[in-house]
Amino acid sequence: MSETSGDRRPWLVGVSGASGTPYAASVIRALLHAGEDVDLVVSRASRLTILDETGHPFRDAHADADLRRWLARGADGTPDAFDVDAGTDTSRVRHWTPGDLAAGPSSGSYPVKGMLIVPASTACVAGVALGLSKDLLQRAASVTLKERRPLVVALRETPLTGQTLRHLVALDEAGAVVLPASPAFYAGARHIQDLVDFVAGRALDAAGVPHKLYHRWEGELGQGSGQGNGATGPMP
Ligand SMILES: Cc1cc2nc3c(=O)[nH]c(=O)nc-3n(C[C@H](O)[C@H](O)[C@H](O)COP(=O)(O)O)c2cc1C
Repeated sequence: MSETSGDRRPWLVGVSGASGTPYAASVIRALLHAGEDVDLVVSRASRLTILDETGHPFRDAHADADLRRWLARGADGTPDAFDVDAGTDTSRVRHWTPGDLAAGPSSGSYPVKGMLIVPASTACVAGVALGLSKDLLQRAASVTLKERRPLVVALRETPLTGQTLRHLVALDEAGAVVLPASPAFYAGARHIQDLVDFVAGRALDAAGVPHKLYHRWEGELGQGSGQGNGATGPMP
């Protein structure tokens, strides 16, 4: 994984312990395809969701190999659905351990473009909303807000308590984009990966990063079924 150089200005990706690790893999792949550098923070709790959802561990001591295996995996469980060597240069990823509060992203003076938390747990949402900074992921998110940089929070939980809703309002008021991990069906999804890529694509839209992860609405009903009928309707 890469070392920080003078002009390196990565996107920070925080992976917290909510279900939805394929969303994180899709976002990281797309950032790398877009030629972006990535700084990655994988929370301690997310090691459980990664293990549960991929069948493999994510270990700090083997972060590069574990990341490559994770990025190669399709959302349907196919181990080599993606060719990690084709446009997904993982040497552009710098991994930081979640307990390292002296890491670069702990400081506003460390150059980053912004941060995406994908997926975001309710615990993470609470921690960032309250400014707890209990680990590097939460600290980096607080730094992103105080520096007025883009912060996208892709919450994955349902249903939501009033407490979480209030935390989400606090994040919105602090300048974050609250982006529920709720796939849409109007883009003509046929496979699990399409639904995952829709959420990842909307997160990248919010960050202003170009991608081709999903088919955009073109103003004609029928895209969702693959049977355009020529009628037009409001954007869903
Ligand atoms: C398999 C598994 C799935 C989980 N899914 C969710 C989820 O979808 N949303 C959520 O808010 N928490 C979920 N949790 C609970 C979080 O992991 C837990 O609240 C943890 O403290 C989050 O810590 P973090 O935000 O530091 O990663 C899940 C836990 C496990 C083990």
